[in-house]
Formats: sequence, C-alpha cells, structure tokens
Amino acid sequence: MEVIILENQQAASELASKRILSLVTQTPNCVLGFATGSTPLKTYELLGEAKSQQNIDFSKITSFNLDEYVGLPTDHASSYSYYMHQHVFGPLGLSPEQYHLPNGMAANIELECQQYEQKIKERGPIDLQILGIGRDGHIGFNEPGSSLGSRTRLKTLTETTRGDNKAHFQDQRVPYHVVTMGIQSIMEASEILLLAFGDAKADAIAKTVEGPITASVPASALQYHPKVKIFLDLAAASKLQNLEYYQEVYRKKPAWQLAEFI
Ligand code: GLP
Repeated sequence: MEVIILENQQAASELASKRILSLVTQTPNCVLGFATGSTPLKTYELLGEAKSQQNIDFSKITSFNLDEYVGLPTDHASSYSYYMHQHVFGPLGLSPEQYHLPNGMAANIELECQQYEQKIKERGPIDLQILGIGRDGHIGFNEPGSSLGSRTRLKTLTETTRGDNKAHFQDQRVPYHVVTMGIQSIMEASEILLLAFGDAKADAIAKTVEGPITASVPASALQYHPKVKIFLDLAAASKLQNLEYYQEVYRKKPAWQLAEFI
C-alpha cells in the first residue's frame, strides 16, 4: 500500500487526477472503475477540465461503477446514475456504450448482479479503480461483515451509512437496499486509488492501513492488493501510527516512480 498524504483535498485530488490522466493518455482504451460520494468530486472536476482544456481523449475508455441504490429510477436526483451523468459522463463526453452501472431497478436483481459481473469479466479487468471509504470502513457498499470473497450482489445498508447519505437525499429517504460490486470484484482491478478526506475518515483509514485484515473493516482487504495508492489529506491521515514514515517515503520517492503521475 502506498500512503500519500498531502496538505489538503485539493492537492490530493490533483495528484489522483494526474494518475488517472496518465493512464488514459498512455492507454486510451483503458477500463476505469468509478466511485460516487462527495470524496472524488474534485478529482472528477479536474478530469473534466483536462478534457476541455487539454483535449484529453476519453472517447475510447470503458467504465464500470461500483454500486447503485435499489428502487431509484436513473433520473432520480439521488441515484448514482444521475450523479455520474452530472459529474462524469457529461463532462467527459462519454457515450452510453462506454459506461456501465448496476441497474437498481432490475426486476430480477440476482440476475442483474450476475450479468454485471459477466460484463466486467468480458470487458475487464478494470485497469484502475477509484474508491472512497465509509466511516465504518466500507468500500462500494460493502458494509462491515461483507465477505472478503464477495462479488456483485444485493446488500442492506447499515443505519450509519443511511444516516451519512441522508444529506444527498432531498426527502432524506435513503433506500435500504443497494447493488454493489463485491470486495473480490474490486480486488481484481489492476490498480486501486482510494481517496479519503477529513477527520470523519481518520479512524476508518487507520484501521484500513494499519489494522488487521478483517471483514469488519472491508477496506482492510486492500492490504492484500499489490497496487493500491491511498490519497489522504492531513485530517484523514491523523490517526495513522506511521504517519511520518509515509510522509518520508513520499518525499524520497525516486524520480522514476513519479513518472506514473505525468
Ligand atoms: C457511499 C458510497 C461509497 C463512498 C462512501 C463515502 O456509501 N457507496 O462509494 O465511498 O459513500 O462517501 P463520501 O465520499 O460522500 O464520504
């Protein structure tokens, strides 16, 4: 795990967006895994700017989203589909053949989950997966207790997550059920960027990076992944025991490793 701690969200999002842009430039037909939530918004904004100001070409990428609420139509303002159109698909000019989200309105959710996995298998592997993290250590919507070997399936949200996500619902009526890629589906991405900002994420980050690998902290499974970068601001990093060591590693990074961000 590479823990990259920068002074604030802006700086961390800039570096994360540079890694994504470097991949898209070198491998125009790459497969990106997108997350939702407020954490990656700045990174997405920077990708949009790169497209409009530097003419970066996103027309050959394919994308898969991590998750979606069950029972929200795609035009519902709180659906992840709506979020993605507003913040990513629109600004990057992606066409419908390029992007994939689980269909939370499917009549047969189990079949939908199997078909989503099949699509990832056919078009994947995901070259680069972007992740946020919940306060309880969830990734995607894999709540504590999720099997580390899980694949796309129906999950029930915890009250903590429903409470945290209320802010994104005008009527505060957060669905109970979601479809999410599993922890194993996420782990099959070739590279993972996890972003976390603010005090509220400090505990989850400390457990993810330095705690035991356990289904009780789903993100801790990432300790098994060979290529994970964790982008943090100082607040989210504040409970890491080896904070200074991670900062030292980043300061002393050999120049050839920085090529990943160009
Ligand atoms: C939701 C999403 C996750 C996201 C998490 C944190 O549960 N399913 O993908 O990482 O919220 O959200 P935020 O970035 O708004 O803190």
